Amino acid sequence: MPELIPVLSKKTIEEQIVGIARRISDDYQGCELVLVGVLKGAFIFLSDLVRHLTIPVKIDFIRAASYGSGMSSSGDLRLSADTEIDVKGKDVLIVEDIADTGLTLESLKKHITSLGAKTVKICALIDKQERRQTSVSIDYACCKVEKGFLVGYGLDYAENYRELPEVYHLKL
Ligand code: PRP
Repeated sequence: MPELIPVLSKKTIEEQIVGIARRISDDYQGCELVLVGVLKGAFIFLSDLVRHLTIPVKIDFIRAASYGSGMSSSGDLRLSADTEIDVKGKDVLIVEDIADTGLTLESLKKHITSLGAKTVKICALIDKQERRQTSVSIDYACCKVEKGFLVGYGLDYAENYRELPEVYHLKL
């Protein structure tokens, strides 16, 4: 039987999101900010984050997947849906559930920069260093987690567990 070991509680997630939302609201005061959520994993995080912001933003999504149904990133980024808002000249904040190897975020940052965004920064719910393969910087990281295969609060294993309200380490 797979085992789910609690890693981030509802309370911890909420507290961290409130803090990060405050920083983002301060830093982007008076800017034309576009949040780009990375589907599917970031759908819950983005929806909680925006409700704590105190500045107006536009919201878009990009669909990137590199894990398939496995437990490690293939490093081969597939975009199956691109942004719809024209980000040229705008400040963009990529909103992601987890930075693991960092390969997805590094590629997405390059991609959005190539669309002509004025600035591109990254906000991640979880910054996990264990397997990092790039030097991409996570400008706003809610929670640092050392290691483990994480599920819940949007994160999946073979499309399961996304609906869980907390984050767990999945032990198969
Ligand atoms: C997961 C996660 C990030 C990425 C992080 O996505 O949501 O997008 O992997 O891994 P990395 O830092 O090693 O690149 P996944 O490919 O599983 O797609 P999903 O968002 O649809 O779950």
